[in-house]
Amino acid sequence: MTEKVLARLSDDQNSNSNKIERAIATLDNSTADAVGLPAMAYTSEDFLDRERRTVFTNHWVCVGIGSDLPNFGDLVPVEVAGMPIMLVRDRSSKIRAFHNICSHRGLQLVTQPCQQQKLIRCPYHSWSYALDGELKSTPHFGGYWQDTYEGFDRASKNLQSIKCEQWLDLIFINLVGNAPPLEDYLQPVIERWSDYDLSLLSHGRDLSFEFDANWKLAVENFSESYHLPWVHPQLNNCSRMEDHFGFEVGENHVGQGSKLYRIGAMGDLTLPVFPNLPESRETVAEYISVFPNLMLGIHPDYFLALTVNPLSPTRSVERMSFYFIGDGATSIEYEALRQIPIDLWKITNEEDLETIERLQKGRKSPAFDGGCFSPALETTVHQFQRLVAKAIANK
Ligand code: FES
Ligand SMILES: [Fe+2]
Repeated sequence: MTEKVLARLSDDQNSNSNKIERAIATLDNSTADAVGLPAMAYTSEDFLDRERRTVFTNHWVCVGIGSDLPNFGDLVPVEVAGMPIMLVRDRSSKIRAFHNICSHRGLQLVTQPCQQQKLIRCPYHSWSYALDGELKSTPHFGGYWQDTYEGFDRASKNLQSIKCEQWLDLIFINLVGNAPPLEDYLQPVIERWSDYDLSLLSHGRDLSFEFDANWKLAVENFSESYHLPWVHPQLNNCSRMEDHFGFEVGENHVGQGSKLYRIGAMGDLTLPVFPNLPESRETVAEYISVFPNLMLGIHPDYFLALTVNPLSPTRSVERMSFYFIGDGATSIEYEALRQIPIDLWKITNEEDLETIERLQKGRKSPAFDGGCFSPALETTVHQFQRLVAKAIANK
């Protein structure tokens, strides 16, 4: 490379890191005076790497649902912060997370979900691990027909475990391993929704989507209702922008809701609702974005958990899991009624994804300066970006 090109690359890098520092500084301003994250926060591989080492490493991150692995011995591979991880339901029914690599030469152990395995066996040289991660067998490792050799430190070769906890059906991991208990992290959410008996949730159906945009744009879009009248005219007919409200959910999460949620009905039949809901909650839907990438929605008759994960700086995958109230609600009798919110989210999500992909395209323009926020309707987006900026500052 010529010196000129090298100088230009180093200028670009300096200007990128200046932009990040400037964004971190200005995001601390009040919402009216804040400047949003610069375009490179949505387009650059370096920025995503930095997010993987901070945002997705230091916090509790929702990585799957217990319904994916209902029986002991069920294994599910997932990717978090760009690394291979596996979820395992052990014999005591507890879900554990491990780095998804063999301790011998590092082969990725689990490549697809598998059911009711007694051991986790590496296909390369057949090392096997128990469901609690203990290394059980190392055939011929000490020579033919000898599993060991003198001085082999077997105990140091167990699977490497990752801090893993569950709330409801949602499985979270904390890669750095020193986060406070998950329940503390979620306490503001748990308190906010203490009127709902969440122990009744029954898993219904999942949807997933891939799209050409940075993961943060999906969270930002979920967190505000300002776009509702223009992006979701159909939704706006039943719940207008002015029927929405924002609320505080501690310092790590943001919330907004609608005062006019109407339960879907077919004739006289409706889905079962949360029992003993206060009257004030009967027509309310609330949405909370749990930092970094989990979005939750509660309605009198269903609960929604949505995660978004980066595949690259400009491509992401979203998964929606729908839960209904009580085991009976997932029976065949309610199938058509369950489809009402699912169809509504499909349409809404398609409308959102089209917008999100255009937001991504806009970030190719050198004229984009980070944008600004409505101090009345976008404090949630501002707070989310401030959390990202704060997290990446702790690289
Ligand atoms: S890499 Fe797994 S047994 Fe060799
Ligand atoms: Fe939307």
